[in-house]
Amino acid sequence: MPEMHKPGSPGGEFIPEVKHTVAVSSGKGGVGKSTVAVNLALALKQRGHEVGLVDVDIYGPDVPLMMGARGRPGMFENRIIPVEAHGIKIMSIGLLVAEREALVWRGPMIHSAVQQFLRDVLWGPLDYLVFDMPPGTGDAQLSLSQVIPLGGVVMVTTPQDVALLDVRKALAMFRKLNVPILGIVENMSYFVAPDTGARYAIFGEGGGEKVAGEFDVPLLARIPLEMDTRKGGDEGVPIAVGQPDSAQARAFRGLAEGVVERLDSLSALKLPTIG
Ligand SMILES: Nc1ncnc2c1ncn2[C@@H]1O[C@H](COP(=O)(O)OP(=O)(O)OP(=O)(O)O)[C@@H](O)[C@H]1O
Ligand SMILES: [Mg+2]
Repeated sequence: MPEMHKPGSPGGEFIPEVKHTVAVSSGKGGVGKSTVAVNLALALKQRGHEVGLVDVDIYGPDVPLMMGARGRPGMFENRIIPVEAHGIKIMSIGLLVAEREALVWRGPMIHSAVQQFLRDVLWGPLDYLVFDMPPGTGDAQLSLSQVIPLGGVVMVTTPQDVALLDVRKALAMFRKLNVPILGIVENMSYFVAPDTGARYAIFGEGGGEKVAGEFDVPLLARIPLEMDTRKGGDEGVPIAVGQPDSAQARAFRGLAEGVVERLDSLSALKLPTIG
């Protein structure tokens, strides 16, 4: 890990060449944030954008494995060169320190790491920088929203009620931090049996829609539960690139489209109006 910095100047000057920042978050662990972040980044890339992906999950950095990113980041004039995989620039604590080393980190160190992922990394010009968040509403979420003005957050949930309880807490936190909520992704929405074509609602139905309605934000995508999605993540070839014709890949392209539109309409709202 390069030397730590004290908290510095806030805001966009950290990453002046990045047009849009999107966090992928959830209240609950294991609902598919990393899967969504990785495939969203790839779907944005497939639309012709330049994309970076930051793994903000200090305790469980899954992005390098899921993206099949190998090797250590290089250095250039004291700045870190991100590792590239599938055409995406990636930064993760998993690329910098030995596996268990970061496990004892708490608030200030996490804050420094988040700052370094932005200020000390040579991102170059990017259209979208996607952040894969750890679960919950802890230090990393607070640090990120303090270090840069986030363009928006995509909230991932699974359909069942216990997941919704946590997602409501996380949504309330982002509202309080003035981070625009781009919308909800309902992951593991349903399962289509490959042999019979029968459709099963394994985790129940309608949860994503319900919470989207409560917070008056769009339901951006419903991603089916599917074995190849899990396999793609384990093998470093995410479904968006491994099986671009699958229902999952289509759902992720739809998500990318929704994210692009929401960010555009939110930034249009901030422009001064004429007349
Ligand atoms: N739609 C899906 N179909 C099948 N498997 C999925 C799907 N979404 C995620 N998974 C699998 O579920 C597991 C958990 O997903 P993932 O790691 O993306 O969740 P997470 O919310 O980032 O977890 P954590 O809170 O630990 O960071 C992974 O093995 C992943 O491959
Ligand atoms: Mg994760």
